Amino acid sequence: MEGRGKARRKVVSVLEGHVHWPPPIWMMRQAGRYLPEYRATRAKANGFLDLCYTPDLAVEVTLQPIRRFGFDAAILFSDILVVPHALGRDLAFEEGRGPVMTPIGVDGIARLGMDGFHERLEPVYETVRRLRAALAEETTLIGFCGAPWTVATYMIAGHGSPDQAAAKMFALRQPEAMAALLDHLADVSADYLARQAAAGADVLQVFDSWAGVLDDGLFEAMCVRPMARLVARLRALGVTVPVIGFPRGAGERALGYKALTGVDAIGLDWTATLATARAIQATGTAVQGNLDPMRLIAGGKALADGIRAILDGLAGGPLVFNLGHGVTPDTPVAHVEAMVAMVKGG
Ligand code: CP3
Repeated sequence: MEGRGKARRKVVSVLEGHVHWPPPIWMMRQAGRYLPEYRATRAKANGFLDLCYTPDLAVEVTLQPIRRFGFDAAILFSDILVVPHALGRDLAFEEGRGPVMTPIGVDGIARLGMDGFHERLEPVYETVRRLRAALAEETTLIGFCGAPWTVATYMIAGHGSPDQAAAKMFALRQPEAMAALLDHLADVSADYLARQAAAGADVLQVFDSWAGVLDDGLFEAMCVRPMARLVARLRALGVTVPVIGFPRGAGERALGYKALTGVDAIGLDWTATLATARAIQATGTAVQGNLDPMRLIAGGKALADGIRAILDGLAGGPLVFNLGHGVTPDTPVAHVEAMVAMVKGG
């Protein structure tokens, strides 16, 4: 039964290298503020983190975009920063400012352990179990975490930034402490993903949202090496589900990313060229992406042209249709409906 169910999950099949046409579709950040029903559920929670840690509410917001648009995959509703939070770091989400944490330094890194880690994340595992039971057989359930580098940028700066200068300077001035932080994050993230897979996640995605700000030397040390460690540990734990790596902004480095890190498929942002995407597909590897979310806000011809270019350009190989980054709060729901209809039309 399980085998038959999985065989019908299109997203899983594409990530294994099979070509399906029309391609399956889901959207990064598909549960979020652009949906009125998300805003209504969010208002019932005692803040964003409470939403992430309350299975009843997290299940509900995960399912909302599936009900409305019929996406081929649901993504667990949580956040990449629950990992440092479960390591005992403080975390708040401030309205209009995003995540805020106390910056970690050399001493804090040396003190990082794993006490209570899985206990704090138990509500997330419970959410995954309930989701797999609630979803239709053919809908893929995606679990996720942040890549070590991307999570480290928030831990070091204590907030988001456009250039990750604080984390880069820390990496350059304190390379040993940085390596220790990345190793620790790689290990606990692998354990976290293994629990999500055991709870029912069919696919795992690792978001390296800040991979694009590094030179060759730092890209190797901050992104490639920790991701390879994370994936190797995940496989050593016996996890066999496909892993999507999303090295946002990696450009042509996306070409070698699978071989260097061990991920199964590559998420591309909209600055990746179709030529890069096709070169990845030519190796039998699935790509996921990569519509500019701004085209989804604009709608009309801008949206149709962007979708057409991806469908025509990547038709011969394994493709999971997605945006090149998360959907934004100002996106009209009607434009998402139009995108889904056009992609399902092939
Ligand atoms: O995709 C989904 O629907 C699943 C849920 C999900 C969220 N965050 C919910 C969320 C996922 C997969 C993430 C990943 C995430 N979180 C990333 C990597 C992907 C990316 O976007 O680059 C990063 C860097 C974060 C950290 C984070 N969380 C930031 C910087 C912010 C503030 C920005 C914002 O949009 O407000 C968040 C908050 C957040 N995470 C929201 C949601 C729905 C908005 C919070 C709210 O409802 O008030």
